[in-house]
Amino acid sequence: MNVSLFSSQYLVRYLSEIDIKAIYDLCHNNSLYYQYCPPFVTEQSIVDDMKALPPNKEAADKHYVGFYDRDQLIAVMDLIMAYPDEKTAFIGFFMTDISVQNSGTGSSIINELCTFLISIGIGSVRLGWVKGNPQAEHFWHKNGFIETGVTYDTETYTVVVAQRDLKIPGY
Ligand SMILES: CC(C)(COP(=O)(O)OP(=O)(O)OC[C@H]1O[C@@H](n2cnc3c(N)ncnc32)[C@H](O)[C@@H]1OP(=O)(O)O)[C@@H](O)C(=O)NCCC(=O)NCCS
Repeated sequence: MNVSLFSSQYLVRYLSEIDIKAIYDLCHNNSLYYQYCPPFVTEQSIVDDMKALPPNKEAADKHYVGFYDRDQLIAVMDLIMAYPDEKTAFIGFFMTDISVQNSGTGSSIINELCTFLISIGIGSVRLGWVKGNPQAEHFWHKNGFIETGVTYDTETYTVVVAQRDLKIPGY
């Protein structure tokens, strides 16, 4: 997939093991996220996430990408195409660098991504956040994601599944 089409504002490219230090630097400052979604990030957990796939998906469906402002990594996204169904894209992970937070960067990336997904015929975007994480809940609500009513429990937290219907004008 030509991931550079995800954004007109930022350079988007696939991330690999050579980027782990930069990804770690971005992630480890987001302590609130890891309070709700432990364990805390490590370089090994990033390596594992780079390879992790939902059931019945293949590496070709996974787009683990970085968004760059010139040479600064400002966001990381794990996008799984056609999951859980052909017309749905799934955001497994999305995080912005704290230096750019609360200035609309995350929303702008998500909105541009949705525009791209519409252009290739995707009808909805799905994701989950940890129940009670105020930052994640506020951000995804602000960006048009609505709880599906489905939640699932892990040993340490509950995940709220939410979806944005790309056919709703304005979202
Ligand atoms: C969630 C995240 C991606 C948002 O990125 P961003 O670049 O700050 O996005 P925006 O600037 O477009 O929007 C941030 C919104 O979150 C709000 N926000 C920030 N911290 C908050 C908090 N602790 N509680 C409630 N809302 C909060 C901001 O006020 C802003 O909303 P507003 O415009 O209505 O005021 C970023 O905070 C992040 O990476 N967090 C850690 C990872 C994470 O939680 N990812 C989502 C996991 S499911």
